[in-house]
Amino acid sequence: MVAYHISGGAPLQGTIAIHGAKNSVLPLLAAAVAVGGRCTLTNCPAIRDVDTALDILRHLGCAARRSADRVEVDASGANRTDIPARLMRRMRAAVLFLGALLTRFGRAEISLPGGCVLGERPIDLHLFGLRRMGAEVEARGERIVCTMANPQPCTIALPFPSVGATENLLLAALACPDEVNICNAALEPEIADLVLFLRACGAEIAEKGSVLRVRGGVPLTGCAYRVMPDRIEAATYLIAAAATRGDLLLTELCPEHLTAVTELLSRASCELTVGGHSLRLRCRSLRAVSPIRTAPYDGFPTDAQAPMMAAMAVAEGVSVFEETIFSDRLRHVPALRRMGAQILAAKTHAVVTGVKTLYGARAEATDLRGGAAMVIAALCAQGESVITEAEHIERGYADFVPVLQACGAAIERSN
Ligand code: EPZ
Repeated sequence: MVAYHISGGAPLQGTIAIHGAKNSVLPLLAAAVAVGGRCTLTNCPAIRDVDTALDILRHLGCAARRSADRVEVDASGANRTDIPARLMRRMRAAVLFLGALLTRFGRAEISLPGGCVLGERPIDLHLFGLRRMGAEVEARGERIVCTMANPQPCTIALPFPSVGATENLLLAALACPDEVNICNAALEPEIADLVLFLRACGAEIAEKGSVLRVRGGVPLTGCAYRVMPDRIEAATYLIAAAATRGDLLLTELCPEHLTAVTELLSRASCELTVGGHSLRLRCRSLRAVSPIRTAPYDGFPTDAQAPMMAAMAVAEGVSVFEETIFSDRLRHVPALRRMGAQILAAKTHAVVTGVKTLYGARAEATDLRGGAAMVIAALCAQGESVITEAEHIERGYADFVPVLQACGAAIERSN
């Protein structure tokens, strides 16, 4: 079990080069199965979820290898359409192989995916869209078998701009002759990255506002592609710098991808300097901002909600949070309270009254972003903290401990 041992109180100061985006590289690796041939991805982060995606690719018969930030996939040898439950359980993004396998083989057998426990996370919107394309879906207990013998052109109106459903339907639409229109598609930058990757492989995809139009049935070939920067990693480090009253320069990112976060941080009296691919944050005093309401892009990202709550716990004033994307994404609150945070929380709402001092405590990371929030609180706290189950954090943050150490944090990792 991985644990982080943190002695709080030091402001984060220094420079961090942002890594490739977890929530982009995972759909791109699934897409490699749909495309077939050889794909080379660069700027891939060294995180556990990429390891899981490579395990799934190899299980399906693909050759997949990573060296440094480069991942090479040769999907020409793919010869299976089933993904075992033990791999599906490891991450939510495993579900994205469903659409890719339907395009490649017209068949996929999966289980409901695992990943962060953030409340009910069904895949009904994924299956709704696949059925519109002519897929047959058969639930066999925990297993789901999908076949798509004759993919149909259609228009799919998503009732909610689900990121995963948009990605899965994009991948399945590649097999549909004529046109598939995905309306009310998610607009997250990771979707745009997937579209750019698929176009580089020869796909014909047009975007018009929140409508994605795919002309499927065209031959696709592998390509070389650089994964976009991770906007949530960047947001997490900016928020940690604000919470610890630090001075942090982030490089190799797209500042325009996190304006909802930087807007809130500047309202919280942080000094932000925006460059072409850099962002600098200096914070001497931190004021509470309200309301902090999560929303689909380009609203405030749900993945930054927990880290921001840790910062507001040590801000001056009261802030109100509303989590509108997931039904149970306040699971980090008990740990922050154990550190002395003053938080009143209901199912999706929380009122945070900033305090001058947090105190080191022992806490168990509940999920990826909740774990990052506990680390931020521990970095601000007086005394020692131990954050256990840190494997959750390492699913999505590359080199988390050395990056923080290089910025002055007193943090050590134990296995
Ligand atoms: C993606 O999850 C991200 N994961 C999440 O990041 C992110 O929080 C989320 O998008 C929202 O931005 C990856 O990209 C791997 P959704 P996803 O489908 O696709 C409900 C992180 O920390 N819903 O947009 O699962 C769902 O339950 C992770 O990096 C249905 O009801 O998000 C949720 O309440 C956490 N039925 C809401 O929609 C469906 O069929 C948003 O889900 C699909 C989703």
